[in-house]
Amino acid sequence: MSKLNIVILAAGKGTRMHSNKPKVLHEVAGKPILAHVIACAKALNAQKIIVIYGFGGEIVREAFAHEDITWVNQAEQHGTGHAVQQAVPYLDADANTLILLGDVPLVDAGACKSLTEQANNKLVILSFNKADPTGYGRIIRTSTGEVIGIIEQKDATEAQCKIVEVNTGIMAMPSANLIKWLSRLTNNNAQKEYYLTDIVEFAVKDKVEVVAEITSDEWSVTGINSKLDLAQIERVQQARTANKLLQQGVTLRDPARLDVRGDLSCGRDVEIDVNCLFVGDVILGDNVLVAANCVIENAVIAAGTQILPFTHIVDAKIGENCRIGPYARLRPSTVLQSGVHIGNFVELKNTQVDIGSNINHLSYVGDTTVGKNVNIGAGTITCNYDGANKHRTVIEDGVFVGSDTQLIAPVTVGKDATIAAGSTISKVVPAGGLTVCRAKEQKTYPSWKRPQKTKK
Ligand code: UD1
Ligand code: CA
Repeated sequence: MSKLNIVILAAGKGTRMHSNKPKVLHEVAGKPILAHVIACAKALNAQKIIVIYGFGGEIVREAFAHEDITWVNQAEQHGTGHAVQQAVPYLDADANTLILLGDVPLVDAGACKSLTEQANNKLVILSFNKADPTGYGRIIRTSTGEVIGIIEQKDATEAQCKIVEVNTGIMAMPSANLIKWLSRLTNNNAQKEYYLTDIVEFAVKDKVEVVAEITSDEWSVTGINSKLDLAQIERVQQARTANKLLQQGVTLRDPARLDVRGDLSCGRDVEIDVNCLFVGDVILGDNVLVAANCVIENAVIAAGTQILPFTHIVDAKIGENCRIGPYARLRPSTVLQSGVHIGNFVELKNTQVDIGSNINHLSYVGDTTVGKNVNIGAGTITCNYDGANKHRTVIEDGVFVGSDTQLIAPVTVGKDATIAAGSTISKVVPAGGLTVCRAKEQKTYPSWKRPQKTKK
């Protein structure tokens, strides 16, 4: 197999996005457009990935600081040919070069592989028959079908404008030929740009065979120029993700009402109801149910657990056979062991809950360690913040916390203790027994009157 260099063109401004953010940093399925193209390049095992950047400058580069990429700045954009010229010092003369566009996120690695495999002694172009070819470069073929040129719309005759086979911008060729052809480019055209597409004529003159492979997958060659394009591609990508999950056996109540912005991996017999959003890396074990309207971000949810409607989970790990929600909120560093029940309007943060414990109603439990088989009553609040620092609460195995209890951290509740409802706990609660901390006695003032509204 020949060496492969990939040049990704990403210097364009993207004026029609009407955004201060560089076009290639807008997201499709939770990842920058350019990240999808880079993922394709990596899948092709290129020896070198070169990204031509310009507009937005260092922001684009910084977004991919963790990737092994050769960045080349095209400070002024004088056309696609000019863009590729900037890469010449970095190209390996003994490799093939594949040109990709940084704004085509659904680019298909399979089609690219086919191009690069043919590229050894040819110029191979990916083309597409477009119902409305307006704005694209047209593929010029002889009467016998040989490709002899690409003509840009602005330079085309009326007859050439009628051609529907268009240049997708994706092409592959031996780097040595590319370098030679790039040095011959001029900007004698309607846009006064250096057109990469002019290399087709040079190839013909040099008797190098030119092949245009026609793809039938329009989305895989669709570039993003506007928010409308972005929204359409997003739906296409979401539909593809949903199809993949269905094929793996996941039950999706409505594949059109699912959004995966990252990577979702599912075990067997997973069921996902409508309007769920999965962000980052989410792993759902066997038989997990995610009911309607849940948002789950960077979480691992073990087998048999049910996530009930309107639950929001971020950076959490949930054990087997738990029941979470409806209306639960699990914030970062929440870890639940198996058989835990978290009910409505319960918020957990940096809290670890051991096997079989319940926090079923209206509670805030933060910076807390909860033991096994603990029951935390409705309206329990861990007061973890003194206005300056956070403190931990420890609730040992078998504890029963009565409703409307405040636990003022740092505080520990001993094993099997019971706390009476309405207690404000600020000292260590010993193991076992009943601890009560309320106003001393219950008093009634029989003649007391409710205050009246003062008349204005
Ligand atoms: C180009 C092709 C056209 C093809 C179309 C497919 C040329 C001359 N024309 O059109 O045949 O049908 O793509 O979309 O090649 N870019 C740079 N630097 C530049 C100019 C462009 O990096 O100086 C990048 C853009 O960011 C973009 C890509 O190249 O990712 C294509 O540029 P764009 O202006 O969209 O394409 P056209 O030149 O209109
Ligand atoms: Ca252009």
